Amino acid sequence: MNRRLYMQEVATRDGFQIEPAFIPTDEKIALIDALSQAGYAKIEVTSFTSASAIPALRDADEVMQRIARAPGVVYTVLVPNARGAERAMAARADEFNLVMSVSETHNTANLRMTREQSFKGLAAVIDAARGTNVAINVSLSTSFGCPMEGEVAREEVLRWSARFIELGVDGITLCDTTGMAHPRMAFELTAAFRARFPDTGLTLHFHNTRGMGGANVLAAIEAGADRFDASLGGLGGCPYAPGATGNICTEDTAHMLDAMGYDTGLDLDKVVAAARRLPEMIGHDIAGQVSKAGFITQRHAPPIDYEAIRARALARDA
Ligand code: COA
Ligand code: ZN
Repeated sequence: MNRRLYMQEVATRDGFQIEPAFIPTDEKIALIDALSQAGYAKIEVTSFTSASAIPALRDADEVMQRIARAPGVVYTVLVPNARGAERAMAARADEFNLVMSVSETHNTANLRMTREQSFKGLAAVIDAARGTNVAINVSLSTSFGCPMEGEVAREEVLRWSARFIELGVDGITLCDTTGMAHPRMAFELTAAFRARFPDTGLTLHFHNTRGMGGANVLAAIEAGADRFDASLGGLGGCPYAPGATGNICTEDTAHMLDAMGYDTGLDLDKVVAAARRLPEMIGHDIAGQVSKAGFITQRHAPPIDYEAIRARALARDA
């Protein structure tokens, strides 16, 4: 039996949030509906943030209302505060993805609150969600380093994880918001989290900013991770982290894992077909490579004059 991994699509949230041109609501919905048929464990549909902070996702309420949900897929939304939680509840999200940063500076820049203020606000949201059937995941940004503060201590990541786990959250996502993780760090933090919190769902959220995304995924798998955020085409970035480029690319990552014999649950043909429609939708090229190169299982015909080339080569021995 191939080891099962769980893929979570974040392009329509982490990716679309920084696209300079507004992507029409109908196109967002059509893309999410196509992805719903592709075998994802979870889709992060959008975020319930303030329209002035993230204008690209100002249509979050309508998108959530109009998508066709597929059974078995968890539809999650990013929630930064209590107001966002109210909107997400009204939109019948399956899960709230609450967000704060382990780095004080990044948290303040991104969310306009200190970490303690964020924690207090999110704890109230978690409290309010108790007794409903909404699942709660907490995404800890800058878990592998902060573009402003630099190194983020592993103990600090585990300490914030513990505070949320004590409140009964269902899952924690360790986010490499600006692509500062390297494979050894990915292995060590994953292993430390798994050892300390064996019963808590863990997602790894890597960005490929410095080309280490795929290596980080493999290192995290070695350390016991089985759940990954990834972004179609490799879209993504962070508005409060200059130069931050995309998430690890869903189709490239799944293609690699599939070739290695892992079961990602994804239908690669469907994912690649969706990725190939992205450049027209967003108006620029994508970082993803498999959508351009094709699968390693694909075979190309030799040149049309191959027989003549071969005959000439063999003639040299005669
Ligand atoms: N949804 C809709 N509107 C919201 C909102 C939400 N979740 N939270 C705040 N607002 C509105 C307020 O109603 C207020 O509107 P008004 O000016 O018309 O009265 C305005 O936004 C400012 O509210 P305030 O409470 O002062 O929030 P803020 O300006 O400090 O913003 C955040 C706080 C977190 C909501 C905002 O910075 C944000 O959405 N940031 C995006 C973070 C993010 O997604 N980053 C990328 C992913 S990690
Ligand atoms: Zn991200």
